[in-house]
Amino acid sequence: MQLLLAPMEGLMDPAMRGLLTALGGYDRAVSEFVRVSQGLLPAHVWHRYCPELLTGGATAAGTPVYVQIMGPEPEVTADNAAYAVSLGAPGIDLNFGCPSKTVNRRCAGASLLKTPELIAAIIAATRRAVPAEIPVTAKVRLGYDDKTRFLEIAHAVQDGGATSVVVHARTREEGYRPPAHWEYVGAIRAALRIPVIANGEIWTPADYEACRTASGGPDVMLGRGAIARPDLARRLRGGDATPWPWDRIADCFLRYDDALTADGCTPTMRAGRLKQWLALVKQHATADWPFTPALFACLKGLTDINAVRETLRNPPPATAPGLTEFPAP
Ligand SMILES: Cc1cc2nc3c(=O)[nH]c(=O)nc-3n(C[C@H](O)[C@H](O)[C@H](O)COP(=O)(O)O)c2cc1C
Repeated sequence: MQLLLAPMEGLMDPAMRGLLTALGGYDRAVSEFVRVSQGLLPAHVWHRYCPELLTGGATAAGTPVYVQIMGPEPEVTADNAAYAVSLGAPGIDLNFGCPSKTVNRRCAGASLLKTPELIAAIIAATRRAVPAEIPVTAKVRLGYDDKTRFLEIAHAVQDGGATSVVVHARTREEGYRPPAHWEYVGAIRAALRIPVIANGEIWTPADYEACRTASGGPDVMLGRGAIARPDLARRLRGGDATPWPWDRIADCFLRYDDALTADGCTPTMRAGRLKQWLALVKQHATADWPFTPALFACLKGLTDINAVRETLRNPPPATAPGLTEFPAP
């Protein structure tokens, strides 16, 4: 069973990668995408996206972090990949799934799903440019507007020479709307020789089991679910359905905040990040921590980072009618 931590711009920052890999269960992580369009990006840009380059290409817990690159030009992508490897990247991941309009207008990300031959060319150029022992992986969706070319896309990835492929089981048009179509990942697994990793809509251990059955394999990449449930990877590894108690989750929030502080974030940014995280928890993990919508309501108006931290650690008893009770302090 391979469990990968998904790249997520603005969500899975280095501090979050550090925390989640320290909690354990992940085989590797992938940086937020680095967009390349012409020439070589300077070292400081690579270090900003992937500070783990300065510590052996791994998080403090020792989990390797592949650098994700997104670009429409085979040679430019390849040259930048080779440079990232020279800086210490243990692997290169190529992004063919980003749905952003700005990115797609520049013919990068998911728009490349319309030209599988260009996907193959970008992977092949990158494969040639980096040493043979460095994995070159790809992350794709099932198509741009529809799924008619999903197998062609998958074969292009393999023909280009990718080491493995992560399939986000939706089209670009489907964005992030549920459901994820895991059964297509099963068809890709059956058709390819390289390892295929399923991705999309795994929020709970039950979702993982459903994905495993539908996609015919155990390997998955966890995105938003990894953040909404920081205990998810450990629960999948341990086969334990029991959620962690809130004080353990609150401790995760505080450790994340400490890491943001160490990374130089301002108190306002830190408060924003903690609220963003709690918003994901209250939206997707209320089955495990039912009081989180009420907790979020309390936290929303707070701007003082110390008050935010204190409230997370010691949720006050719910007072407003209709709010689900907080746990006893
Ligand atoms: C806010 C956000 C940012 C993302 N940024 C990236 C990115 O930089 N690179 C990438 O390949 N995918 C990116 N994704 C897609 C995720 O890696 C993942 O494929 C998607 O969220 C589906 O998995 P999930 O349902 O487990 O979240 C992003 C997703 C979100 C929600």
